[in-house]
Amino acid sequence: MQPRADDVPSSRVAHLHLSPATPRTRDASSLPLLEGSDDRLIATVLVVRLPLAAAVAGRGIGMNTTTLPGTPGKLAAQSRWAVETHGLTKRFGANIAVNGVELLVPRGSAFGYLGPNGAGKTTLIRVLLGLTHADAGTMSLLGYLVPRHRDAALTRIGAIVDEPRFHGHLTGRQNLRLLAAAREPAARDRIGPILERVGLAHRADDRVSKYSMGMRQRLGVAACLLGDPQLLILDEPMNGLDPAGIAQMRDMILSLVAEGRTVVLSSHLLDEVERTCGAVAIVDRGTIIAQGPIAELLAGAPVALVVECSEPGRAGALFAGTTLGARVGAVPSALGLEITLPGGAGRDVIAEINRVLVAGGISVYRLQPVQTSLESWFLQITSRLGDPE
Ligand SMILES: Nc1ncnc2c1ncn2[C@@H]1O[C@H](COP(=O)(O)OP(=O)(O)O)[C@@H](O)[C@H]1O
Ligand SMILES: [Mg+2]
Repeated sequence: MQPRADDVPSSRVAHLHLSPATPRTRDASSLPLLEGSDDRLIATVLVVRLPLAAAVAGRGIGMNTTTLPGTPGKLAAQSRWAVETHGLTKRFGANIAVNGVELLVPRGSAFGYLGPNGAGKTTLIRVLLGLTHADAGTMSLLGYLVPRHRDAALTRIGAIVDEPRFHGHLTGRQNLRLLAAAREPAARDRIGPILERVGLAHRADDRVSKYSMGMRQRLGVAACLLGDPQLLILDEPMNGLDPAGIAQMRDMILSLVAEGRTVVLSSHLLDEVERTCGAVAIVDRGTIIAQGPIAELLAGAPVALVVECSEPGRAGALFAGTTLGARVGAVPSALGLEITLPGGAGRDVIAEINRVLVAGGISVYRLQPVQTSLESWFLQITSRLGDPE
């Protein structure tokens, strides 16, 4: 896939990082275009590329007890949202990869950006981080309006876009030292504790080329943590991990959130998002189709009612002539009926179903509501949207 001319290749960011003589720029959009792009390098470099900006932004904020025009500090600290976007849109030709996205990520949460492959998850993350330009919309990270205050925001953010990539011939510790060298001195002191924390201390002095995928993912998180970030953005952090690796990654994310950090993770793995995240946005074809705390989303999701009864065929037809007809879908099964109730349907609907069946001369042996899992609900919505017109 060819990047568009307005994409910001990560090699630009890498170039900034590797060349101390390059002047610091406040806005990625003003950087010169370089050829070649490797998204996977971006994340770790993004984590380390703005030490000067951090110092400048930190001083600026510290000096002001009132918010001066153009000073983002005070307003940023008050922001309730770690990520906030309005009408965010990114097109690749006729293809709208990010379509009017209204995203609200509460601070201090694990938030899942959940969608099938090609839904636009990575593109959204790239837009947020300034690696490619939005065509429309506004966004803020940790309360900092970006791209205007991107430098101030990025010093507080660690991100992995696509897979984390490191120098294979160097050890994990050496890779982290390289990245820490471009940050504040405290970053180097964090390396030891971070390696312990991500469970890599015992392999820290092995070459990264010998690392498993899970170890590389954890080293990616370690790189994110060098800057002691308030917000981590992890693109498919469970990808390529075995069940033990997934469990470790989940525990690590939850421990980061327990410290008050915000973790946004993109994923196509419903099960993992359901286990790891308190809130989600479900995205399909660039469009967010549902968003909020998982418990609230499921409360609004359809509930299935399993009915064991006599004469399933005749039982299923009984609803057509009643007020329930338009609200429930009944499909005969071997033991009776499988009925889909509308989201939020109360117990009275179940009682009414029972009355209709009994009044129709059907023997009812069992009625059992089954809460839809996030997975089955997600599949219902996304496959509906995915149907050819
Ligand atoms: N650089 C690019 N140029 C053109 N199309 C792209 C580019 N990057 C992504 N796309 C398209 O945008 C859509 C979303 O892609 P992506 O964000 O990678 O999805 P996801 O991360 O959810 O799998 C896809 O249709 C993809 O083909
Ligand atoms: Mg992706």
